[in-house]
Amino acid sequence: MKLSTRSRYCLRALLEIICNGEDNKPIALIKIAMRQNVSEKYLEQLFIILRKGGIVKASRGVKGGYILNKRPEEIYLGDILRLTELSMETVSCKNCDEVDDCMCRPYWDDFSHVILDYVDSITLKDMYLRSVEAGDKKVEGETTAPVLVDEIMRLKKERNAVLLVHNYQRTEIQEIADYLGDSLDLSKRATQLKEEVIVFCGVRFMAESSKLLSPHKTVLLPRLEAGCPMADMITAEELREMKEEYPKAKVVCYVNTSAAVKAESDICCTSANVAKVIESLKAKQIIFVPDKNLADFAGKQTKSEIIPWYGYCYVHEFIRLDDIKEQERLHPQAIIVVHPEVRPEVADYADYVLSTNGMVKLARKSSVQEFIIGTEEGLVERIRRENPSKKFYLPKRKPLCSNMKRTRLIDVFHSLRDMKYTIELEEEIMNKARESLEKMIKIA
Ligand code: 13P
Ligand code: SF4
Repeated sequence: MKLSTRSRYCLRALLEIICNGEDNKPIALIKIAMRQNVSEKYLEQLFIILRKGGIVKASRGVKGGYILNKRPEEIYLGDILRLTELSMETVSCKNCDEVDDCMCRPYWDDFSHVILDYVDSITLKDMYLRSVEAGDKKVEGETTAPVLVDEIMRLKKERNAVLLVHNYQRTEIQEIADYLGDSLDLSKRATQLKEEVIVFCGVRFMAESSKLLSPHKTVLLPRLEAGCPMADMITAEELREMKEEYPKAKVVCYVNTSAAVKAESDICCTSANVAKVIESLKAKQIIFVPDKNLADFAGKQTKSEIIPWYGYCYVHEFIRLDDIKEQERLHPQAIIVVHPEVRPEVADYADYVLSTNGMVKLARKSSVQEFIIGTEEGLVERIRRENPSKKFYLPKRKPLCSNMKRTRLIDVFHSLRDMKYTIELEEEIMNKARESLEKMIKIA
């Protein structure tokens, strides 16, 4: 059986209907025709066949169009092919065509049954999920994929799972979050949850922090390779060498570090509590890893001598003062709010230096209407959504963390379906690293 273009256009069009909102939002054929680069007349003929076969139904009116007549999981590929293909005969050989008793015929018949059973086992929903998985942009649609979100919600319930989402994640991931926040907020949240499974949509060190604080829970990171380049800029071995060099110094590590580095530190901090954490140690000398910019920011608020590691976040490091000044020139009414991971000259110039949750709160509470924001664009998408009447400007070269953007809806779906990727840590490292995190939570 060789599939005709009729089947291909029909299947594509049906997948477009799912993207459009399945059973409640009719889609006009002209819209599908334009996306598929095919004539509307041709599609109309195909849709008459699909309507007669009970696959779609038409809705009239100004916003009229087509919707599915059944749920995507109730529509089988075989049903569609029977409607659109003239023949469903699958295989034969030349001899079969010439003689009635071809010895291969029984085998071809069996083979045909296998193929028909196969197409009758595939639903439109299966096809949709697979298209999204393959990154088919035309099929995924411009907004959230409703079927995928439904599936995630169903699996979340089945697995007794909760979704923790960092402020820098893609909008469609933020929209399905149970909790959306900064790294401090989410680490603390992890300890209070009753669910057995935590799906952490963020980067690896964040998922590790959740595991440290909730060791008996299963913590999943949907994309194995979603890491933080800054966290990878220092290893436990390098920190041990630094400690040997400054034996009297106390060690503060930013939460953006591996569990092994946390295990070598006296206490952990986040961008929201760095000064408070350092003050709590009452130490003359502090080794601060890995962010040199956060170290500089903290050093200006404490009497302790800070010995920094030369790490940085490439997203914030590349926000230049000139970019900020250019935005200021364009929007003179706006105030400047930046993350402490930016370069010292940018932090010094800003009106506020805040963690991502600090920015969320300021945007909500302040009577100011315009803000220039120096941090990753995901946070700005969140505050724009939450404060539609206010204006938020990013530097011209948008700060974008590619690691934070790796997680897509399909990854969250796979993560819950296959229970991957589980965060596992060595017992000894876990115990030591947990201490430095718990000390921080106690004081901040
Ligand atoms: P927050 O602690 O403000 O969430 O920041 C984490 C981070 O990775 C910033 O780049
Ligand atoms: Fe790491 Fe920077 Fe990305 Fe945050 S924004 S996860 S610090 S690379």
